[in-house]
Formats: sequence, structure tokens, C-alpha cells
Amino acid sequence: KGTWTILGIESSCDDTSAALLRCAPGGARPAPLAEVTADQQAAHAAFGGVVPEIAARAHAEKLDTCVAGAVAQAGLTFADLDGIAVTAGPGLIGGVIAGVMCAKGLAAGTGLPLVGVNHLAGHALSPQLSDDVPFPYLVLLVSGGHCQFLIVHGPDRFTRLGGTIDDAPGEAFDKVARLLGLPQPGGPAVEAAARDGDPTRFAFPRPLTDRAGCDMSFSGLKTAVLRARDALVAEQGGLWRADRADLCAGFQAAMRDVLATKARRALEACAARGVDVRAFAVAGGVAANRAIRAALQEAAAGTGCAFAAPPLRYCTDNATMIAYAGSFRLMKGDRDGMDLGARPRWPL
Ligand code: KG4
Ligand code: ZN
Repeated sequence: KGTWTILGIESSCDDTSAALLRCAPGGARPAPLAEVTADQQAAHAAFGGVVPEIAARAHAEKLDTCVAGAVAQAGLTFADLDGIAVTAGPGLIGGVIAGVMCAKGLAAGTGLPLVGVNHLAGHALSPQLSDDVPFPYLVLLVSGGHCQFLIVHGPDRFTRLGGTIDDAPGEAFDKVARLLGLPQPGGPAVEAAARDGDPTRFAFPRPLTDRAGCDMSFSGLKTAVLRARDALVAEQGGLWRADRADLCAGFQAAMRDVLATKARRALEACAARGVDVRAFAVAGGVAANRAIRAALQEAAAGTGCAFAAPPLRYCTDNATMIAYAGSFRLMKGDRDGMDLGARPRWPL
């Protein structure tokens, strides 16, 4: 078969997404045909975080319209599709179940082959949607729920070099925003506030950078911001705009330094393992941060490695990356049965 038109379905966190992607065996860059995503930010806003039960219900309500919308947007019908790829974990289990059930229903009704996709594989492969990133490459997955360095040897082979032992960076950005009375999602708000801040006013820690390996820790950094805030409030009765800017700038600089230091270690670790990675890519929502992107790019340049930061629509949760990650198995003729399960945890 020359080309495959694949329906991707994603519902593992707070975005319901369906996409159509046209793929060809043999490594040609796939062509995105359509994507319809319904975010749930408004539904969770009052709770200051994603509420799993609300997320699951919203996915169940929106999946059908996202799928129908993506098929219509591409100007196609179900008869034009060649396969279905659905996130089968890891993630908030109610949402994953909703997506898997939707995909199974479609597969049963149309007779199309179905594969379950690991959400992390979707993120890890997403740089290939927009950039020339040949295997093997190094990827830093850095989002609200994840933080890890992976060597991507091929579409189904990954080596985890290290990751966070506590919070994910996006989670830390969100918590810092909450501490300072800034809106959610916290990342963009903290980045904006940091722009006119002094990153040197507060001496925030760079956890684990003095230790070998690629593991990271961010909960101490978040606590340091909390302490600095409380000290200021106790001293002056509140926070000034400049205080907020300096706290954000100091926090962001610490985050940037930790990620850049560990990226250098990860690139060294690839060489030490004899894996000749020619590209370093970032994926996940935090990759939107300009200061962090620039520091990671510099780390790559230091080792003569190409750097890829995909456009934001592929960095954040999306069904196009799920269609892409599933395309490899579908095009080989692999498929999952109606016993495909939803997995809350699923390490790569
Ligand atoms: O990948 P993503 O959309 O969702 C998952 O976590 O799976 O990432 C969302 C996270 C949020 O925590 C958000 O605050 C963070 O990415 N984020 C940023 C920026 N934009 C989004 N963090 C730092 N700087 C940004 N500009
Ligand atoms: Zn994700």
C-alpha cells in the first residue's frame, strides 16, 4: 500500500483530540490532513488543576464530535481511512478509557485495524512531524506531567536516561504561578512576568546539578519560591509587581539551568553508550518557554548536535502525534484486538 490515512485519538489528560495523518512506509515525512482539539481549561479553571472525573466526562462528551470534525475537515469519510491509533496510556484513566472505547467502537463499526499507542511514544516521536530528526536522536520530554530524557533508537525502541524524581517542570511552573496569584496555565504567565524581572535577586537552588546522571528534582525549587514569597509578605505586608517579576525570573533561570545542565549530561551519556545521536529535540508544553529553549539549543550546539524544537501544536497534547506513533505498527500489519486495555501507568 502506498499511503495510509490514519485516524489518531488522544484523551489522556485535559485535551480531547482527533486527527487525520497521511503516512507512507519508508520514512517520508507524514502529511497532517486535519486535527480537531477540544480543551477543557474552562471546566477545570475553578479547581486550580485538572479534576480527573470532570476530564473523563468531558472526553466522553467530546470524542465523537472531534472525530467527526477531523474527518469532515479533511474532506473525507470513514471509507477513506486505513487505520485507527488511540492513546492507551499512560494518563488519567477515565479519559484513556473513553478514548479507547471510542476507538474500539469505530474499529468494530468500520472494520479498520486498531492499535493502542503509548502517549509518551507520541511525544517522543513528535519532533519528526516538523523537523528533520533521523533516528537515533535524544529527546527531552518536558510537560506538565512528564520530564525525561530518552534516546529514540526507532519508532518502538527507547532508552530512558533519567527524569524527574518528583514534580514535572510544567507542574512547578503552574504551582509557582498559583503561589504568586498569576493565572493558569502557569508557564506562559510566569514567563511573561519574568521578562522584566531580575533573575539574580533570589538565590534559588539548582537541585541535583552537582550529581552525576540525568535525574532531576524540582520540588525543592518550588518550596524555595514559596519561602521567598512568605519572607517578603512577612517583611512588607504583600508583594509588589517587581517582587513577582524577580521571583518568576529567578525561578525560571533555575529551571533553565537545571534542564540545560542535565541536557549536556544526557548528550554525554549518549556518547558514552556509543550511540551517535545527531539531533537533540524537545517536546512537551514547557518547550514553549523561550529562555529554556535557548539554553537547550546552546547545550546542543556545544556538542555539535542539531537542535529541534517543534511548533507548539506538536509540543502540547495532540492526536496527530498519536496517529504518527501508531502508523509504524499499522503499516507493518500489526493490530490490537478488542481486548486492548487502558493503562494508567505504562513506562516506555
Ligand atoms: O504538554 P502539555 O500541554 O500538557 C501535559 O502536561 O501533558 O504541557 C502543559 C504544561 C503546563 O504545565 C504549562 O504551564 C506548561 O506546559 N507551559 C509552559 C509554557 N507554556 C506551557 N511552561 C513554561 N513556559 C511556557 N511558556
Ligand atoms: Zn502529554
